[in-house]
Amino acid sequence: MADLRTEFAGIKSPNPFWLASAPPTDKAYNVERAFKAGWGGVVWKTLGEEGPPVVNVNGPRYGAIWGADRRLLGLNNIELITDRPLQVNLQEMKQVKMNWPDRALIASIMVPCDEESWKAILPLVEETGADGIELNFGCPHGMSERGMGSAVGQVPEYIEMVVRWCKQYTRMPVLTKLTPNITDIRYPARAAKRGGTDGVSLINTISSIVSVDLDDFSPQPSIAGKGSHGGYCGPAVKPIALNMVAEIARDAETYGLPISGIGGITTWRDAAEFIALGCGTVQVCTAAMTYGFKIVQEMITGLEAWMDEKGHRTLADFQGRAVPNVTDWQYLNLNYIAKAHIDQDACIKCGRCHIACEDTSHQAITAMVDGVRHFEVMEDECVGCNLCVNVCPVENCITMQPLAPGTLDRRTGTPVNPNYANWTTHPNNPMARQAAE
Ligand SMILES: Cc1cc2nc3c(=O)[nH]c(=O)nc-3n(C[C@H](O)[C@H](O)[C@H](O)COP(=O)(O)O)c2cc1C
Ligand code: SF4
Ligand code: SF4
Repeated sequence: MADLRTEFAGIKSPNPFWLASAPPTDKAYNVERAFKAGWGGVVWKTLGEEGPPVVNVNGPRYGAIWGADRRLLGLNNIELITDRPLQVNLQEMKQVKMNWPDRALIASIMVPCDEESWKAILPLVEETGADGIELNFGCPHGMSERGMGSAVGQVPEYIEMVVRWCKQYTRMPVLTKLTPNITDIRYPARAAKRGGTDGVSLINTISSIVSVDLDDFSPQPSIAGKGSHGGYCGPAVKPIALNMVAEIARDAETYGLPISGIGGITTWRDAAEFIALGCGTVQVCTAAMTYGFKIVQEMITGLEAWMDEKGHRTLADFQGRAVPNVTDWQYLNLNYIAKAHIDQDACIKCGRCHIACEDTSHQAITAMVDGVRHFEVMEDECVGCNLCVNVCPVENCITMQPLAPGTLDRRTGTPVNPNYANWTTHPNNPMARQAAE
């Protein structure tokens, strides 16, 4: 039986599934039930400094986009950090940690970007018995306009400075939560590492406007006719998160830095992908908000079943296994050739593949043969782009089939070269030509 126990930046949890800092982790009532449902850890809803708590809007704070079946694909929010008093949160955290000693309890923190503020809050958090802290350098709305959240996360020098303070003033492991609202995620990750962070977590939410009401022309969610950008999350952001995780996992400067993966994780498979790209734990928010705490049970049993099937005994057996396979475009093998193939028995003759290929790709799929609707790939035109696979409504009806080395590629009239060759040495590449000369 697969063993899901994790030790991440010195923090132990019975499984890698943590709830991300957000409404599901806002209070003891929630966190207690989350632990009962099986979550391995939680990152408590972000704490602010002592004093009057922040004030949230009193109207809608969420916007969304849905798939055709009304399944939630992307969630947008304009919520701030916790609006409960600091002392109430700290007392509850202490009690929860006492009740659940085997679970990871991480305190997310966001205070003004000055040394005194960080120095003041860290002992209070440490006193709760929390296993670690997560520095919220991610929120893109509300707090960033006050010089916190992503306003810090977008300046690597500030990240390094604050992480250094935290490492100086607490013995707890420090996780640095990064904002995706930046051009190159490697710079903030490197800065966090320079500051001495024990790990990074990403992604926080993406700045977004999800929709505009076409009657009153207000962005959604609308507060008395006005909207502001919010933070986007849920299944729609997973590809962005995976890429950012991979960038950090394969960067020479941050290689080996513990990563807690966040962004759109809804199923065990999503989690396994993040782990394969190097993550030691994963964090979930939108999926829990959409389907409830018990969703973790499917994540646990699904991951265990897959690991058993594949012979992975522990997470370490496959953690990071996909990292060496992430490369830059110029190193892709230009001698690899694949062609689309349509399974005629599975095809429902809808014609989508033909339209897509005909209008926007390479005119490589028939529409009619002998006056009958018939969709077939013409190998001498197919460039192997994969568009038809993605628009076909029937799963596995169209598959990409690699041509074996030596086989004739009927599009180019040349046999498939068995040797790996990439753009860096291609004769059409002016840089390669210059190097050869
Ligand atoms: C309503 C809401 C409130 C959030 N509040 C916080 C917060 O206080 N601190 C924080 O670090 N992240 C916060 N987040 C971001 C989540 O922790 C997480 O990074 C993000 O939602 C991506 O994960 P997901 O796609 O699983 O939702 C919030 C997200 C949502 C939806
Ligand atoms: S792989 Fe691309 S070129 Fe080939 S049939 Fe499909 S859409 Fe057309
Ligand atoms: S899109 Fe798929 S199902 Fe539709 S015609 Fe093409 S192969 Fe057949």
